[in-house]
Amino acid sequence: MSRKVVHVVGTGTIGEPLIGLLCDFKEDLGLDEVTFHKNTPLTTDRSKVRSLISRGARLSTHEDKFDGFNAIGLKPELHTEEAIDRASVVIDCTPTGFGHENKHKYYENYLHNTTGFIAQGSEFGFGKMYARGINDSALNHEEDRFIQVVSCNTHNLSTIVKNLALADGEDNLVEGRFTLIRRSNDVSQSSKFVPSPQVGSHKDNDYGTHHARDAALLFNTLDLKLNLFSSAMIVNSQYMHILHFHLKLKEPTTIQKVIARLDSNDLIATTDKVHANEVFSFGRDHGHFGRILNQAVVSIPSLNIRNGTEITGFCFTPQDGNSLFSSIAVTEWLLYPHSYENKIQCLAPFFFDEV
Ligand SMILES: NC(=O)c1ccc[n+]([C@@H]2O[C@H](COP(=O)([O-])OP(=O)(O)OC[C@H]3O[C@@H](n4cnc5c(N)ncnc54)[C@H](OP(=O)(O)O)[C@@H]3O)[C@@H](O)[C@H]2O)c1
Repeated sequence: MSRKVVHVVGTGTIGEPLIGLLCDFKEDLGLDEVTFHKNTPLTTDRSKVRSLISRGARLSTHEDKFDGFNAIGLKPELHTEEAIDRASVVIDCTPTGFGHENKHKYYENYLHNTTGFIAQGSEFGFGKMYARGINDSALNHEEDRFIQVVSCNTHNLSTIVKNLALADGEDNLVEGRFTLIRRSNDVSQSSKFVPSPQVGSHKDNDYGTHHARDAALLFNTLDLKLNLFSSAMIVNSQYMHILHFHLKLKEPTTIQKVIARLDSNDLIATTDKVHANEVFSFGRDHGHFGRILNQAVVSIPSLNIRNGTEITGFCFTPQDGNSLFSSIAVTEWLLYPHSYENKIQCLAPFFFDEV
């Protein structure tokens, strides 16, 4: 059997915890090795690189940057193309545009011996869109070598639509309206903080922002055409994104039915909390290095049913945990198409019914 090597490109907000998770669950996930690419030799990042190496990951970088890394006491073992060449799956966790750039520059040259390439939310058009539990049935082993894990907020929006509207019939959603209230930057990031709430524009005439568009395209992979529209704004907080949703349904529902639906889904948590910091704090104490992997945390006190067919509420997006989980789920699907559902159960302790 060929060695299973997963290579992560990028050590930022997504890359760093992903490398850590893959190392910590290497055996359960059936991996032989985890490697990662660090782009810039920075003394400020030295501690995290050392920590990831100590957890078992092997460092790669561009050949012409080896000296820079050696100079700060870090020893790369592989150069960029060598690491991609020997990888079974590559997970690109770079910011906007670089995933596409890497695809054309490197990944397309390694289709003969690498099973698949995965990119994150910003890389629209990189490959088939994916979110765990939403469109697994749309994945096709013959065709899907490039996959885009949708953004954390698109996960949240999609799981609400799937569970509160489509569970009662694929044509049950009349209309879904959403406002994404986004934290300005992650606790790991020092730039892009906003001094006050900042509203966003609606660049997409049909869908508003990319969140509804991406969710609609995600459901398109299941041949569903949904009427979705989203708006987005950023608030001056570093804790959590919040989704405000308003679903108009064909079939009447009740608050009890909605809560039962949420409770029966393993990927969704419910909470009586209304403060983002308290939800964040729960993750800090009970998640994997501070992250819970649920797709959404629905605030029960915020739920309302109007006219029997309109559901309104708020839910928290648990930082980036849902994108991390989907990245691992689809990596395992690429490596173990018949047993990936079992393999990813090792991450079950980081899913909670109640927060
Ligand atoms: N932040 C979130 O909460 C979140 C949630 C879900 C999805 N995402 C998605 O995840 C992706 C990454 O976002 P992020 O927030 O993790 O970014 P980030 O924190 O800015 O980290 C970016 C990483 O990419 C590396 N990098 C930059 N240019 C590169 C290149 N040309 N080649 C190789 N590596 C390069 C950087 O390395 P150096 O520092 O060494 O230069 C850094 O480690 C984006 O698609 C984003 O939409 C983010």
